[in-house]
Amino acid sequence: MADISEDKLSEKNVEDVGSRYFLPRNVEEAERMQNQHEWLKGGADGLVLAPIDLNRSKMRVLDAATADGYWMQDAKSIFPKDTEFVGFDNAPEGYPPLNSSPPLQIVKQNLVEEFPAAWKNSFDFVHQRFVIPLFKTEEVPLVLRNLIGCMKPGGWIQLVEMDFQTPVSKPIESCPAVQAVHKLTSTVVSDPLASTKLAGRLTDEGLVKVGYKAIEMVAGSSHPDPELGERGKRNMLSVLGFFQSVAKPEMIGMTEEEWKSLPQRFAEEMKNHHVALRVYFVWGQKAAAQ
Ligand SMILES: C[S@@+](CC[C@H](N)C(=O)[O-])C[C@H]1O[C@@H](n2cnc3c(N)ncnc32)[C@H](O)[C@@H]1O
Repeated sequence: MADISEDKLSEKNVEDVGSRYFLPRNVEEAERMQNQHEWLKGGADGLVLAPIDLNRSKMRVLDAATADGYWMQDAKSIFPKDTEFVGFDNAPEGYPPLNSSPPLQIVKQNLVEEFPAAWKNSFDFVHQRFVIPLFKTEEVPLVLRNLIGCMKPGGWIQLVEMDFQTPVSKPIESCPAVQAVHKLTSTVVSDPLASTKLAGRLTDEGLVKVGYKAIEMVAGSSHPDPELGERGKRNMLSVLGFFQSVAKPEMIGMTEEEWKSLPQRFAEEMKNHHVALRVYFVWGQKAAAQ
């Protein structure tokens, strides 16, 4: 396979990357992602797990694939007041702007196209969440190099991604619908285990102090906080709906009937068992200039 990581992707490949994104971009999707954000923040006990010093002044933060910028709006409360936030997405116009004062700075930029020269070595913290598994394995180094290029020497990156494949629900033998959901999502995304490879990739790219934390995000009745459990359940059912809309029952060896009843069976399992999903927070630092 050609090494596209060194060169710019061809126009055809860039188009391909764009059309591979199958989630909608609209008000409902923005609300789903906001709900998912709150569920995740509760499960991880915060937004930033990378060991960055949050007390420094005049920091610059870049949020990649930011959608409506909800992460930036929330992260403002944990960074000093004089922090500058910039977000980008390849289709930010799809989401209604958040009511933020001053308005969030969100620009249009594709992760696989050349980044603005002004971004080079200019951010103290680069954050990206929930987009990497859509890229093919051979495209990921280019995405990471683009992001790492934006980090100041001494700056940090944090990547947050789901493991679509590894079952962590218990008892797994009582959760056939959960197993089917893993099979479905793993079939649709380009690399269901992309999250598990990120720490190694950051090390390969020369970052230092690379670390990670795998969080088990509980959805449904076994969450110790019923509100968060409900958020998780709602999120998982919406996500299942999107995956079903772009797939067919035969792709995972299901009958039409089994396919139709999958959401209801999944909901039942989230009520009766410990249903969870693993999310990786991965971080690394760009070595300080000598
Ligand atoms: C699942 S959403 C996650 C949004 C946000 N990061 C969050 O955690 O809520 C993925 C986002 O990636 C954006 N996206 C998809 N492909 C992209 C690309 N090639 N370049 C930049 N953004 C992209 C989508 O428009 C979408 O807003």
